[in-house]
Amino acid sequence: MTSPFPSTSPRLHLLCVERKTKPPVSAGRASLLFTSHSSRMGTMDAYLRQPWSTVHAIPMVTAFAQNWERVDNFQSRPDDIVVATFPKSGTTWISEIVDMILQGGDPKKCTRDAIVNRVPMLEFAAPGQMPAGTEQLEDMPSPRIIKTHIPAAILPQTFWDKGCKMIYVGRNAKDVAVSYYHFDLMNQLHPHPGTWDQYLEAFMAGKVAYGSWFNHVRGYWERRQEHPILYLFYEDMKEDLCHEIAKVAQFLGRELTEVALEAIARHTSFEAMRDNPSTNYSTVPSQIMDQGVSPFMRKGITGDWKNHFTVAQSAHFDQYYAQKMAGTDLCFRTHI
Ligand code: A3P
Repeated sequence: MTSPFPSTSPRLHLLCVERKTKPPVSAGRASLLFTSHSSRMGTMDAYLRQPWSTVHAIPMVTAFAQNWERVDNFQSRPDDIVVATFPKSGTTWISEIVDMILQGGDPKKCTRDAIVNRVPMLEFAAPGQMPAGTEQLEDMPSPRIIKTHIPAAILPQTFWDKGCKMIYVGRNAKDVAVSYYHFDLMNQLHPHPGTWDQYLEAFMAGKVAYGSWFNHVRGYWERRQEHPILYLFYEDMKEDLCHEIAKVAQFLGRELTEVALEAIARHTSFEAMRDNPSTNYSTVPSQIMDQGVSPFMRKGITGDWKNHFTVAQSAHFDQYYAQKMAGTDLCFRTHI
């Protein structure tokens, strides 16, 4: 892939890509979502079920870790809206809500394209398959909604410098672990997660893509003291969606009528998003996301962890959690 960015990055010396796979040639800037053409899938094979790579000491999806300087050198615009989350915390949900708000609550406008194109993921790359997130974003008109899972500590400085508004969604760690486990089972760009017990240990140790959940939720929580970050919780969204949508609209300086607010809440219910091809990832080929193994829109509830954690696992987790979250006033609810 030809990088549009200078070859030296201030952070490049920190960049450690463990795997040395040569990135295949880019698919260019075509506005395709994914192609299942067999020759293109062939170029993708090198990235399927690969161990994590590392960027800035954080475990990363190997396909995304290639040419990471494209991310480090990305230029934000002051009116960019950043949607940041640890994976499986409701990213797609908040992305759809923000796009609906910008579109004045008109659901038709939000079916104009798949969510991955309306709200590109900054660090995304599927070499040889489709343009990287950074390439998609370059061509987008403002205001752009930019999705990312990158932890606050290594988010490109440009977003802090330009004062971009950020919306962070946190979700309780136990439900995130369960959701992430199912996602790793179905997502072929991730290594196979092994057994649930093995996975839970890896999750606690931060040996999953994007690293430690604890550092992630704390990182953005602390940054909100000096930066415009609206910090939301998945559990609050489940409890009173209209209330949380209104908070987002206010944060973005957008007025919503009661009718528009209700339309957004209806359009972004779990059932509506599960059945909507522009939000349910059904356009992603099964060679990458095998939704026969686990659907992307899996359960959409709070408290599913109770169906997966044993009593011993839960006690062990709680003990570790108390250590890792000591000294913060950040609180999560594991049931509502
Ligand atoms: P589960 O696996 O627990 O069902 P992300 O978009 O960050 O990858 O998060 C995916 C999780 O959010 C999945 O959780 C998915 O079902 C849930 N989700 C997506 N849309 C939702 C919605 N509208 N309401 C509630 N949960 C939603």
